[in-house]
Amino acid sequence: MYAPPPEPSLRVNFVSSLDGAGTLGGKSAGLSGPEDKRVFGILRMRCDALLVGAGTVREEGYHAVRLDQQRRQWRLALGMSEFPTLVIVSGRCDLDPAQPALADAPVRPIILTRAQAEPGALGEVADVIRAGDEHVDLVAAVGQLRERGFAQILSEGGPTLFGSLTAAGLVDELCLTVSPLLAGPGAGRITAGPELPAPANLTLRHALLADGQLLLRYGR
Ligand SMILES: NC(=O)c1ccc[n+]([C@@H]2O[C@H](COP(=O)([O-])OP(=O)(O)OC[C@H]3O[C@@H](n4cnc5c(N)ncnc54)[C@H](OP(=O)(O)O)[C@@H]3O)[C@@H](O)[C@H]2O)c1
Repeated sequence: MYAPPPEPSLRVNFVSSLDGAGTLGGKSAGLSGPEDKRVFGILRMRCDALLVGAGTVREEGYHAVRLDQQRRQWRLALGMSEFPTLVIVSGRCDLDPAQPALADAPVRPIILTRAQAEPGALGEVADVIRAGDEHVDLVAAVGQLRERGFAQILSEGGPTLFGSLTAAGLVDELCLTVSPLLAGPGAGRITAGPELPAPANLTLRHALLADGQLLLRYGR
């Protein structure tokens, strides 16, 4: 049910409370559950590149992207790379090169940044791709990822990156878990940034119900 389309695509994965919160206590973990985690793992298994904003890496204490042996073998049998490549979007490059997502990565990660950024020591632990001058040009950046052979791109957020991807017209699919929680006011939504000139319409591909969680897959 989560097989990507045959053509290159960019899929976004999020979890939200019933009342629209994208975090609980500043993190997404409290919104998740076993079925959401299962989909999270399946989506990772099916992607070539795993895109994430620097804010999520900083806030969530992101770990290196590792898959169990069965999933790695499954990928290799399909002609995919053993692991997806982690791609972190950052304009400021304010990331610690010693943090596990970078330092323990099984394949060299990529930092997607802008021409004027100074990645410094990050360049020792990751490849640096530059797109755009003052801001990261996500259309050009995704184009560069495609040139490197990353056909299926999965974004694990966060809201600022999702807002930018939506504004750039790059979102082909949204996998959204709606958890049966009322988080109350305070937390931000799953998207952030400037308003869109017009909403983007998506079509429901499937809706799964598991342990009170709704697992939704929407596509363009
Ligand atoms: N509910 C969920 O499923 C879910 C998923 C992921 C994250 N989250 C939550 O989201 C929160 C983080 O929010 P966030 O909005 O800060 O996350 P984010 O989108 O991951 O990170 C924002 C940062 O990413 C970089 N960035 C994103 N878009 C960019 C663009 N177009 N151009 C240049 N740089 C760009 C910038 O980094 P620099 O500042 O380095 O320039 C920016 O400050 C965390 O609390 C996390 O728990 C929730």
